[in-house]
Amino acid sequence: MTVVHESQDELAARTADRLATALAEAQAARGTASVVLTGGRTGGAVLAALRGATLDWSTIDIYWGDERFLPGGDPERNETLARQELLDHVPVSPQRVHPMAPSDGEFGDDPDAAAEAYAVLLRDVASFDVCLLGVGEEGHTASIFPHSPSVAETARAVVAVRDCPKPPPTRVSLTLPTIRRAERVWLMTAGAAKAQAVAAARGGADEADLPAAGARGRQETLWLLDKAAAGEY
Ligand code: 6PG
Repeated sequence: MTVVHESQDELAARTADRLATALAEAQAARGTASVVLTGGRTGGAVLAALRGATLDWSTIDIYWGDERFLPGGDPERNETLARQELLDHVPVSPQRVHPMAPSDGEFGDDPDAAAEAYAVLLRDVASFDVCLLGVGEEGHTASIFPHSPSVAETARAVVAVRDCPKPPPTRVSLTLPTIRRAERVWLMTAGAAKAQAVAAARGGADEADLPAAGARGRQETLWLLDKAAAGEY
């Protein structure tokens, strides 16, 4: 399904509302909820818009779909973005916030060890309620790039990704099978530069050529777009 919004701002505001509703529903059903966060401009805008949501933040588990493998606190890290835009402003339970290891963390500058550790953390996580994803101009999602080893990965749940075309070059990412463990996968993107990739992914492109095409939820796969990314002008 696709939802087209007038503007990037409306996309961020409406998606934040939609996310708050989905998380509250999960909490009502199970007592807890889980969400996978993304980096990027649209992802950051949605998190900022979520600050005002009425939610019981204490029972929400927060994961990341990918991370830029940089030192802790680096402004380019997706964790730093999420903390600045949302997590530093709402009463989350620290033990329920699950960032990927930084390059100066307990595994040092070893992205493979960081990826393996995150895979171990996810072993007991059967599903995510909502997985938020951005989309790149060439169709990457999380840090899974076209024709990269990570797009074909089916054995490991989390991988180190090197030589990424989008800086920084070293990243850690969930694989597509892990993303597909989510009940709801929301692909959020804006701007005319994304229109071709969005059209191809929604048109059934192969995930090897366009990884965003392989991001599907168990219950729901939602494209959340502005008019430009939907190619409506
Ligand atoms: C990252 C992201 C990446 C991002 C897309 C879209 O760490 O860079 O997780 O997948 O979501 O590149 O980014 P924009 O919304 O900024 O275009």
